[in-house]
Amino acid sequence: MPDTQPVPAKAGITDEGYLTDSWYLAAPSVRLKPGTQERLMILGEPVVVGRTPAGEAFALRDICPHRLVPLSAGRQIETKGEWTLQCPYHGWRFGTDGGCRLMPSLTQDSPYDPTKVKVRRFPVHEANGAVYLYVAHDPRSFAPPAVPPPSFGPLPDKPGFVIEDIFNAHMDDAVVGLMDPAHVPFVHNQWWWRPPSAGLKLKEKPFGPIERGWAIDRHAPSSNSKLYRWVFGGNVQTEICFQLPGYRWEIISNDTARLLTLTCLTPEAPKKTRITQFTWWTGAPLLHLAVPVARRMGAKFLAQDGEMVDLQNQGMAHQKAMLWIDDIDVQAKWYQQLKREWTSARTEGREFTNPIQPRLLRWMS
Ligand code: FES
Ligand SMILES: [Fe+2]
Repeated sequence: MPDTQPVPAKAGITDEGYLTDSWYLAAPSVRLKPGTQERLMILGEPVVVGRTPAGEAFALRDICPHRLVPLSAGRQIETKGEWTLQCPYHGWRFGTDGGCRLMPSLTQDSPYDPTKVKVRRFPVHEANGAVYLYVAHDPRSFAPPAVPPPSFGPLPDKPGFVIEDIFNAHMDDAVVGLMDPAHVPFVHNQWWWRPPSAGLKLKEKPFGPIERGWAIDRHAPSSNSKLYRWVFGGNVQTEICFQLPGYRWEIISNDTARLLTLTCLTPEAPKKTRITQFTWWTGAPLLHLAVPVARRMGAKFLAQDGEMVDLQNQGMAHQKAMLWIDDIDVQAKWYQQLKREWTSARTEGREFTNPIQPRLLRWMS
């Protein structure tokens, strides 16, 4: 008996508008201690994400198929040389592949075959201190993932620091909020970043398509971002990328150092999106000293965006339609186009073709 979770009606997307057949961040690696597991909400569904005492990360649907108790409330036990998760209610044990291994109540001569029972299993990928999970459109699918796990080039094994926040927003509104270029001078106008006295300057940036997303080509950072100069010294270039379903990363580098900040969005519920921001770097020794400060700064940025989301909700309670203008909302439109192309490609069973054309975007900020 396979997992009974229903298949969403449209291909490549759930009824709530979250992309499927996609990889999402589950948790930072450090959060998953060996032999423990926790219940997370991902795309509106409960998922138990854990790590066996042997170090293997795993993710299963957090509903025991017997009487629906969360498996996350159970514990990990060895069964015939393999780590299994035992349900706290009647002790059914599940392997990290979701297959039931044991039902303790069965008598020796019972005809019932426990291995026929399966709980949904999510493929997991762990790299550079981040654990991602793959959400297939069909909960019963065992097909290999439609896309490879996210990859952001060479990175150290562990991030320098991680910050997390929850936005009271749908995934789509959270994405659009994070890639909005025109809010910076108004929302993030702290003296050490963008004092109001800096005024507005013309920004002109070449954008182009990348795998399932777009990027601003390498360019010198805005002259009014004081911080880059403090930390890196001269000759700094930045590169900003977005990729479906919700990854935004910024690479700041010069001849000696490379810093990558990755923002991952994981939808938990229709008005709840988890934002996890990883920062890795090599060759910027000053930055190790600055971690406590950098962590606070990052948290402040996210909190400022979160406040805007809460204000926006006051309007959204009364009106759906927004007025998007060029060029500042072009990226928001691209995100919508990418999502539509993703679902069409999945529906028609064909390759995804990026609809974005190279384009110079101009705005004042
Ligand atoms: S509810 Fe899980 S074993 Fe009975
Ligand atoms: Fe922001």
